Amino acid sequence: MDSKINSETIVAHYSSKQSTITIGHGIFNFLVCLLPYSKWDVIGAIISDRVYLLHRQTIDDSLQEINACIKGYDDTEYNKSYAYAENYFNYLLHNQFSRKSLLIGIGGGVTTDFTGYLASSYMRGIDVVYVPTTLLAMVDASIGGKVAVNIEAGKNIIGHFHQPDYIIVDTGFLTTLPVEEWQCGMSEAIKHAIIGDSSSLNLFLKREVSIGNVNESLYHCVKNSVCFKANIVEQDEFEKNIRSILNYGHTVGHAIESVFHYTLSHGEAVAVGMLVESYISMKMGMPQEDFELIKELLLYYKLLPNISFSTSDIIDHMQYDKKNIKGTILFVLLEKLGKPVIGKEVPGTLITEALNYYLTMV
Ligand code: GLY
Repeated sequence: MDSKINSETIVAHYSSKQSTITIGHGIFNFLVCLLPYSKWDVIGAIISDRVYLLHRQTIDDSLQEINACIKGYDDTEYNKSYAYAENYFNYLLHNQFSRKSLLIGIGGGVTTDFTGYLASSYMRGIDVVYVPTTLLAMVDASIGGKVAVNIEAGKNIIGHFHQPDYIIVDTGFLTTLPVEEWQCGMSEAIKHAIIGDSSSLNLFLKREVSIGNVNESLYHCVKNSVCFKANIVEQDEFEKNIRSILNYGHTVGHAIESVFHYTLSHGEAVAVGMLVESYISMKMGMPQEDFELIKELLLYYKLLPNISFSTSDIIDHMQYDKKNIKGTILFVLLEKLGKPVIGKEVPGTLITEALNYYLTMV
């Protein structure tokens, strides 16, 4: 790497391959120094239309230097589909992409998931690089190799584990991020902080990280969060055990998303899930002060939506979660802050009590 570039590099050693993650502010301008681009015969970038509109000049300049062709992508959940992917496979074929080619996904989690899926399937798998441009994609979606598309019957049903070769985390992209997107990313970064990223927890507790503020603390929070997740995935790439801790807040969160027909953001749904699952954790032994601290954090960052729901609807939807085994609803709970435990069964009465607590609280 060029020593003039102010950045840090982490190499994650997964069982399938290694991923090089470079973090910095404004580093996308130096893409040509960050990728060994001559090793690929054809390079193509799938770019979120929204991101391209905002950063066109920078993107064009950097991609021209590595001789990459550009394909736009209207990055909606609707377009993150198995059916929509076929257009892109045809595009790759018509542009002579081979098994030695590279795809670069530039955008939020929908774009990196979609690009990752294309790369994992095209000619049985080609190399992929991510340039996550949202906080959520930086700290979560781009790390760990889960790629998937939706089918009519459900979200993320068709997919693979396919690790990116490089991830370029440029916090400069966050300067144009809308508030709702900040909240989604904050939710996952706070999740990491609660389940074990203690350095970021300190930053959050001192309120050094705030929505819309791309400062030094935010940079550290992103870096900590990336390292935390990469470290968990290094230990358990294919989610056989410890990786499941990353699903904290998601058992309830996924059910909330589904009951609300995906009108709430993923971040909001996970924040509700974290509050409800922390309440359950407290009732099953977590210190009350830890619960109060989690609640304060979620309230401070305004992550908890004012919603109303039928508790039995939520419980019904939890039965369909793909994380369950033989119909038993399983939770990630906390013994205490920073100490998650996986595969916990919870009595139905306690789930109802926790959901009712949420309804009275907001
Ligand atoms: N978002 C959870 C995981 O990647 O395992």
